[in-house]
Amino acid sequence: MTTPTTYITTPIYYVNDRPHIGHCYTTLLGDVTARFHRLMDPTPGSTFFLTGTDEHADKVVTSAAAHNVTPLQWADRNAAEFEKAFAFMNASHDDFIRTTQERHKTKVLEYIRALQKRGDVYLGDYTGWFDASQEEYLTETAAKEANYVSPVTGVPLVKKTEKNYFFKLSAYESRLREHFAKNPEFVQPEARRNEVLGRLNELRDIPISRAITDDPTSQWGIKMPDDPTHRIYVWIDALFNYLSVVDTDARRKYWPASVHFIAKDILWFHAVIWPALLMALRESDPKYGFVQLPKTVYSHAYWVREGRKMSKSLGNFVSIEVLQAYAAKYGLDAVRWYLITQGPQGATDADFSHAKFVEVYNAELANGIGNCASRVSNMIEKYFGGEVPPRGSGDAFRFEAHTPTGTEVFDWSQLARDLSKRANDGLGLMQSAAALQCSVDLIRRVDQFINVTSPFKITKVMETDANAKASLQVILYQCAEAIRIASVLMSPAMPQKMAQLWQAWNCTPAAGASLADLCVFGGKHALQPGQKISKGENLFNRADAAEAPPA
Ligand code: MSP
Repeated sequence: MTTPTTYITTPIYYVNDRPHIGHCYTTLLGDVTARFHRLMDPTPGSTFFLTGTDEHADKVVTSAAAHNVTPLQWADRNAAEFEKAFAFMNASHDDFIRTTQERHKTKVLEYIRALQKRGDVYLGDYTGWFDASQEEYLTETAAKEANYVSPVTGVPLVKKTEKNYFFKLSAYESRLREHFAKNPEFVQPEARRNEVLGRLNELRDIPISRAITDDPTSQWGIKMPDDPTHRIYVWIDALFNYLSVVDTDARRKYWPASVHFIAKDILWFHAVIWPALLMALRESDPKYGFVQLPKTVYSHAYWVREGRKMSKSLGNFVSIEVLQAYAAKYGLDAVRWYLITQGPQGATDADFSHAKFVEVYNAELANGIGNCASRVSNMIEKYFGGEVPPRGSGDAFRFEAHTPTGTEVFDWSQLARDLSKRANDGLGLMQSAAALQCSVDLIRRVDQFINVTSPFKITKVMETDANAKASLQVILYQCAEAIRIASVLMSPAMPQKMAQLWQAWNCTPAAGASLADLCVFGGKHALQPGQKISKGENLFNRADAAEAPPA
């Protein structure tokens, strides 16, 4: 029996652009999801997370020439920028693919040969509207709808006819329909799935090559097998990255991908062209029998900035430098938290705004887990010498607080079970933001608990009242244990801050501990009475909304 694995990918980004919030967001989404999965199944190597760069675009040649370097030198320079940006974001990818690497180019040639062998590739004429900014052809209908300019960048489309090798995409319509019908989770969210289904009747065969001419631009790319006058279309070359990286004896176990994270701009390639290519490949040769279709293509919406679409012409991209300025001021994990919890994970665009950043930072971090952890550890330091107090006896993880308006029950065991289930369900749907929301809800509940039980008041009478002291011990134990669980749930988004808390509290999760076990209230990974915890440095200092945004 093979062990289940999780394989998470991001788009591979064009090296011509500078890394910005869009690239950082999708890679962060992959990162947080991968970190969650590594916690859910801590067997070493059970999760594989891939990101990288797409380097055979025509624009690379033009820009390289303008900078007096070769295309490869230009690609090297810019791929390094993406690697730096993702290292800065603390992305935990297991590999970084560059399409100019030999390991990728060799595999792409094998795949194209296999498609040819199957009879799915033929030479024909192609006429269409070319969007040079996106390296993509638009159909007549799509071009007309977009007013003959690029729907993504606004650059005018150009009508072109060329001899190309074609892939028989149209032959796959009914099988694609069948796949969509049988696998409702294949394209998410639902709105995006419907969009693709609505367009499946438009399937045409697609060019998978470009002619090579005297123009040096046309010479950049992987040559078609056995035909030096053609090179493989950059999009086909790029899609194969997901497979080429794991198509080795050691890594084949990761295929099929569990999720391809992308944004709505490149949905068609991933939801239609890619699965058809994979079906063709699987049937070309028994050695590709392992090539099942990816489980999910998750297509998120866009970040916009202060209510406006980000574009080159407006020059309003949230650049990596802007993200770095925010990180310098509020800490990288706060930036990760904001992006992942407020980002466009669903079908609606999300706005990057300083006001919203400060609001979320204060509510969920400074006044949320930060303040909560500091209040509780303060009291433990002050009243119990920094040692986790006893848990109490009996049904210790359920607290009945008697208030003037009635009795409020805090059933921590149940609550932790419910939240951990909700988090797991969210992760099953690739909804890391929903999983993280569980940690916020848990901290809110701790805050309510503190308000209702008023431990500060109890401290005033506890010297003379033994019951009061016992009650305070139980309250503080329960607060601290709930915060520990919340910190575990938050850790995929904020690995550094949560590690800082764990260090102060002496509760770094044991290697190999699973998310489910770590989230059991009072379970085997619980805080142990008597164990030392210290207040440590504040996790997050409050932010002032009136201050100018970092720049
Ligand atoms: N190279 C192709 C992808 C090939 S994948 C086999 C490409 N590259 S890209 O550099 O243009 O990156 C597009 C991706 O960047 C989007 O799908 C999305 O993941 C991310 N984003 C770019 N702008 C974005 C926003 N404004 N908001 C959120 N993410 C966006 O297309």
